[in-house]
Order: sequence, then structure tokens, then C-alpha cells
Amino acid sequence: MTGTAKIGVFGTGSVGRTVGAKLAELGHAVVIGTRDPAATLARTDSDHFGNPPFKVWLEAHPKVHLKTFAEAAAEAELLVNATVGHGAIPALEAAGAANLAGKVLLDISNPLDFSKGFPPFLSVCNTDSLGEQIQRAFPELRVVKTLNTVTAAVMVNPKLVAGGDHTIFVSGNDAGAKKTATEVLQSFGWTDIVDLGDITTARGTEMYLPLWVRLMSATKTPMFSIKVVR
Ligand SMILES: NC(=O)c1ccc[n+]([C@@H]2O[C@H](COP(=O)([O-])OP(=O)(O)OC[C@H]3O[C@@H](n4cnc5c(N)ncnc54)[C@H](OP(=O)(O)O)[C@@H]3O)[C@@H](O)[C@H]2O)c1
Repeated sequence: MTGTAKIGVFGTGSVGRTVGAKLAELGHAVVIGTRDPAATLARTDSDHFGNPPFKVWLEAHPKVHLKTFAEAAAEAELLVNATVGHGAIPALEAAGAANLAGKVLLDISNPLDFSKGFPPFLSVCNTDSLGEQIQRAFPELRVVKTLNTVTAAVMVNPKLVAGGDHTIFVSGNDAGAKKTATEVLQSFGWTDIVDLGDITTARGTEMYLPLWVRLMSATKTPMFSIKVVR
């Protein structure tokens, strides 16, 4: 990816906001996708992380626009998925396969199920992953699983942990898509980017999440990452 791009970011939570704001700061044209823009803008409560209502955030980021998943996808050259795990495929279905075909999707979502409380468990693992489920559901989408091993702030500013001396991963079937993902990651400041292989390797980074949530509880901070020490 050279220069600036039209990017559709699915998700109005911490990740969608943080990644969307960073991409806009880098000069890209960013549209955030949501199920129902009017309903999202009408929210007045903070979310479960204490983030302000989306309307307040959007007013502070006037270059970013809010549209439906389908509108955000239709206009985009590059897509980012930052929906809750169980919302990923429904969001992409709402976007419509025709609006996704041939496009690169950076998939940041994790298949965390909080229905039995904290800590969450994985809704898919071992022999499958959410990254693979998305790729199977939309064969013409070029899915790259990445950034799902760090908290939102670190995704776009790796220097927040260990001065940036740590590792991020890409998993996907399409070499060109992983090249695009790598360019985006480098523009965020990542230097140690490990290509794990095809989309089945997303099982590895998604299955790190049960450790991630326990590390967060034990260290009382989400500001940590994996460093692969060779
Ligand atoms: N938070 C982090 O630091 C972090 C770090 C690494 C990975 N992740 C992963 O990144 C993803 C986003 O996390 P987050 O904390 O930013 O937000 P989140 O609260 O997990 O997800 C919010 C988004 O999910 C959408 N959504 C919820 N239910 C849906 C459904 N049934 N169908 C379609 N969309 C639905 C919401 O749509 P509306 O806009 O319409 O409400 C909203 O845009 C998650 O998969 C999470 O596991 C998060």
C-alpha cells in the first residue's frame, strides 16, 4: 500500500476508535462501520471500558465518518475488522460479499466468550479459529489476522511497551495481503513483524488470549506484549 487509502474500519469500540484515529492521522480517509449509525450516535452511556459515548469521540475526530457496515465497505480499498468476536461474521454479512470481494481485511477480532463472566473462554480453538471462519465464509476476502495480541493503545503505538522492542504477528493465505498488512503495521511503528504462515496460524495468536487475560489480571495492566527472543 503506497500513499493514502480509503479504509473502512468495522467497530465502534476501543479498537475501532484507536485504529481509526491513527489511520486518519496518517492521512487515510477513514469510515467507521456500525450496525445502525443513528442508534450508535444516540448512545449516551460510556461503554464497558469507560470510553465516552461514540458521538463524543466522533466530534473530537472530525476527519472520521460513521456509516453502516455496507457503506463503509463499499467505499473502502482496505478493511479492518474490530467487532466483538461473535459479531465479525454478522458484520461482514451485513457489509455484503460484493463489497468485500478482492479486498484486504486486517482482522483484529478475538473469539472471546464472556457469557460465563471473566475470564472469557474461546468460542473456537484448537482445530479452527475466527480468522479461518471469516476466510471460509468470504473466500474472496483476503484476510490477515494481526494486532489481536496487544491492547488497542499498543496496536498503533508499539513504543508504549519496551520502547517498541517487541513482536507482532501476521497470519493469512495471501502474500500480497500480508505485504499490505505489514506496510500498515510499519506505519504504526512496528519493526519486528513475524509472518506465521497461512490463516490456520491465527489459531496460535487467538489461543494466546487465555494467557493474555490472566497476565492482565496478574500484572494489573494491559500494557504488555510478546517479544520473540531468538
Ligand atoms: N479492546 C482491546 O484492547 C482489544 C485488543 C485486542 C483485540 N481486541 C478484539 O478486538 C475486537 C474489538 O474490541 P473492542 O473492545 O474495540 O470492541 P467490542 O466491544 O468487542 O466490539 C464492539 C463492536 O462490535 C460490534 N458488534 C457487537 N455485536 C455485534 C453483532 N451481533 N453483529 C455485528 N457487530 C456487532 C459493535 O457494533 P455497533 O457499533 O453496531 O455497536 C461494535 O462496533 C474484539 O474482537 C476484541 O476481542 C480488543
